[in-house]
Amino acid sequence: MRGMTPERETRYRDGLRSAASAGRAILEAGGSAMDAAIAAVVDMENGGTFNAGLGSCLTSAGTVEMDAAVMRGSDRGIGAVASITSVANPVELSRAVMDRTPHCMLAADGALAFAREQGFALRENFPPPSRLAEWEGKRARLKARAAGKTLEQGLAELGGVLGDQEDEVRHDPVGDDHDTVGAVAFDSAGGVAAAVSTGGIWLKMPGRVGDSPLPGAGFWAVDAAGASVATGTGESLMRVMICKHVIDRIESHGDPERACQEAVELLEKHFGPNQGGVIAVGPRGGLGWAINTNGMGRSMWRGGMKDAAVAVWPDEDWDRAR
Ligand code: GLY
Repeated sequence: MRGMTPERETRYRDGLRSAASAGRAILEAGGSAMDAAIAAVVDMENGGTFNAGLGSCLTSAGTVEMDAAVMRGSDRGIGAVASITSVANPVELSRAVMDRTPHCMLAADGALAFAREQGFALRENFPPPSRLAEWEGKRARLKARAAGKTLEQGLAELGGVLGDQEDEVRHDPVGDDHDTVGAVAFDSAGGVAAAVSTGGIWLKMPGRVGDSPLPGAGFWAVDAAGASVATGTGESLMRVMICKHVIDRIESHGDPERACQEAVELLEKHFGPNQGGVIAVGPRGGLGWAINTNGMGRSMWRGGMKDAAVAVWPDEDWDRAR
């Protein structure tokens, strides 16, 4: 994250603002928190900048396996998908699981069959060649590191070509930027919702499922309490049920900002620094976020603001001037 090229940081901030603006359009038109949260996540799945949808990272086998989920606060409605391949917008498929099946989660081939039956768009030639080049670079770096060699030596041995992905591979050699995307929303009726989507973690084992589709770990939303989503290392986040913890803390004292900090303190107590972060909205629309990584992109909009505000670094305030 720290060390992003200026071009990537600009793209990243534009992507965050675009996502919040997509949610804003829904809320301004009187739409629900659920619709707004999904619109924000769809925007990020389609942008290619984040680790979700088009921009998903790859498994050790060079394949895409995405996880996503939604939760509606009014009735604890949950829909989730795990280990799905070519579906263009996993978060929308999650909503269909919630609304059109008797289940909360579908995985792998069954989820894909459901997507086809329901007419969901699939991505062709996915992952794209640029992503496969990035995958080659990461494998090369890992192999070279293990053998005590340079990136160039590792690449030569693999016959890999990085092309215009090279800078990003150089600054992020093994994929320690997670970039799972998520959104929480609060609507004019007081409803809350959460939506989350991810490609998981770079070079994960095929079949690995992270925190994102797991209730309480990757997301949680209950009206009159709040909504939360998480990003970071799923293997740690799921073991403290971080989003459920955020909402439990909000229910205890009412402050989403403090609740996020307490949840990240719990995460750090068990698993140390550089694990991830959370965002939350409280029962009256108050916001919170906390991280123990060196950065986390975040964007927010509330009624009356001219434009969505963005921040990335831990010590950075919202660029509210906009
Ligand atoms: N937080 C996303 C994952 O670990 O899969």
